[in-house]
Amino acid sequence: MQRALVLLIIPLFLWSCSNQKETTHSVPPMKSSALSFDPHSAAQSNAIVKHLNWTAKVDTELEMIFATANYTIQTKPDAEEIVLDTKNLNIGEVRVDGKKVKFTLGENVPYLGRALHIPIESSSKEIEIEYVTEANAEALLWVKTEGQAPFMFSQSQAILARTWLPCQDSPSIRFTYSADVTVPEGLIALMSAENPQQKSESGKYHFEMKQPIPAYLFALAVGDLSFKSLDERTGVYATSEVLDFAHAEFQDMPNMVNVAEELYGAYAWERYDVLVLPGAFPFGGMENPRLTFATPTILAGDKSLVSLIAHELAHSWSGNLVTNATWNDFWLNEGFTVYFEQRIMESLYGKSKAEMLATLARQDLNATLAELPAEDTHLKLALENRNPDDGMNDIAYNKGYFFLRTIEEKVGREKFDAFLKNYFQSHAFGVMTTEGFIDILTSELLNTEEAEVIGLEKWIYSPGLPSNTATVESGELNKVDALRLMWEGEEIQNNDLPWNNWSYQERYRFLSNVNFNLSLSKIQSLDADFHISKIGNSEVLFAWFMLSIQAKNEAVFADLAQFLEKVGRRKFVAPLFEALVISGYKSVAVNIYLHTRPFYHSVTQNTVDELLEWGIEERK
Ligand code: BES
Ligand code: ZN
Repeated sequence: MQRALVLLIIPLFLWSCSNQKETTHSVPPMKSSALSFDPHSAAQSNAIVKHLNWTAKVDTELEMIFATANYTIQTKPDAEEIVLDTKNLNIGEVRVDGKKVKFTLGENVPYLGRALHIPIESSSKEIEIEYVTEANAEALLWVKTEGQAPFMFSQSQAILARTWLPCQDSPSIRFTYSADVTVPEGLIALMSAENPQQKSESGKYHFEMKQPIPAYLFALAVGDLSFKSLDERTGVYATSEVLDFAHAEFQDMPNMVNVAEELYGAYAWERYDVLVLPGAFPFGGMENPRLTFATPTILAGDKSLVSLIAHELAHSWSGNLVTNATWNDFWLNEGFTVYFEQRIMESLYGKSKAEMLATLARQDLNATLAELPAEDTHLKLALENRNPDDGMNDIAYNKGYFFLRTIEEKVGREKFDAFLKNYFQSHAFGVMTTEGFIDILTSELLNTEEAEVIGLEKWIYSPGLPSNTATVESGELNKVDALRLMWEGEEIQNNDLPWNNWSYQERYRFLSNVNFNLSLSKIQSLDADFHISKIGNSEVLFAWFMLSIQAKNEAVFADLAQFLEKVGRRKFVAPLFEALVISGYKSVAVNIYLHTRPFYHSVTQNTVDELLEWGIEERK
């Protein structure tokens, strides 16, 4: 229907859409080339993009983007075509060096979409593609709240950039970009680029991104946003109601950047700002260069969840500067980032805080290892013919972290830090494969004996956790465990628990381990005495909801439904729906989801759809 609307409104695209059908015929989805090592992109290594000039009009009424992508390209002598990834894009006219050409679209491959083949010569310099996004482009979420200005944001990692930009959507291909974006009056546009700090009257914004980035880091947000600076190179964007709150919460951000630079070298992206998104944002944070996108659920009111900022900031080195070559190497992005995040947290808040976080990471990892099939617990993943999203779990993050920590403990911190600093510097704006990293490790850091003792192959290519995994221990969390056991055994009562003095990590440790078969009144007494359901910390609230569902504490269901209406963060939403199903509340889950589904981003929808076996006919 939306498509019909476009046809009526924009005559240009009347032509383009029919043209698209005419010229479309089946083309094999992928040809062999040096790039065929990336199973999630159709791009070919003999013709790649180098710079993007993007002109776009964002229509928040139609929920579409009308755009032209003009790429400067680099070709090898044998290049006869350039291949881009697209998914659900309406492609209009395509020009090569200003001359209109006939393009072809490959067959629709599950998850990957359709390869766009553009005929070129090896002397071609520039390609230009006119296109319109579909109303339900998977990367984009259009947020409409009664009485509030419209909001839209993109979330492209891992392979959704192609749903709003025809691009070579492989993390191994980098390009610089400039953009001219027009948005409705009263709104500001922000990108993973040099950003405005004020609204423009015309609704037109110009962006420059001078450092080359892979397509998954191409990002846009449009809303009624204001800016408040933290220091000369950091600041916060948010809607006016949350701006001051967010500004107070992120006070430590300037220091985080300083500490990170001390650890692993100069920050390469000039500014570091954070944008607070609506509750529907599907992740905790996304490391879009120069501008981290963040969920409002980290605004606890007491700075207790700022490790997420440390994490996204750390990606400015691990991930954005040295990027995983394919999604099979995802641990190179996330494992390194968890390690770096931990180091920032330790520098700023001390060893015991960092050890609490590491101990909770181990707790989560144990749970994930118990759930996943063994072959999905290797660090090097095998995601061919699968949605890369399947590999985006604790293995890459926390098994990756423990691998690096195990190496650190073997060689000593000083040596490991020098190695890492040099690694980021010598591979800056480059790509890394798992095998490449292992080569570097063995040639630059580890001697044969050390490599053997650590068991590199085992870590990378075997399931589970090797027996030499670095151990973590937190005195604080041990105390919590001991108190919990006494409390469960009725040796102590609620008022013997130092709940009010506990940090969020201690509270989370307690709630996430309580035996849910205890009497309902005992579970309920926790809320009566500690007012947990009114708490600002979303991690603690989440642990409380999980415990309550498992304990069949139906008294929380109204609050739970309200939470699920406000929050679309998959890490919270999916386990909550799953717990409802497992605990015999599938119809409660379905009723809530009926209301909340339209408000979620596609990545959250896809996960919950699968979980609830949401009928095909009910799906969009
Ligand atoms: N890059 C990820 C988010 C992501 C991963 C998006 C895979 C799409 C596919 C981001 O840096 C991240 O890891 N976010 C975490 C927070 C972190 C503190 C573990 C999240 O969203 O919870
Ligand atoms: Zn991350």
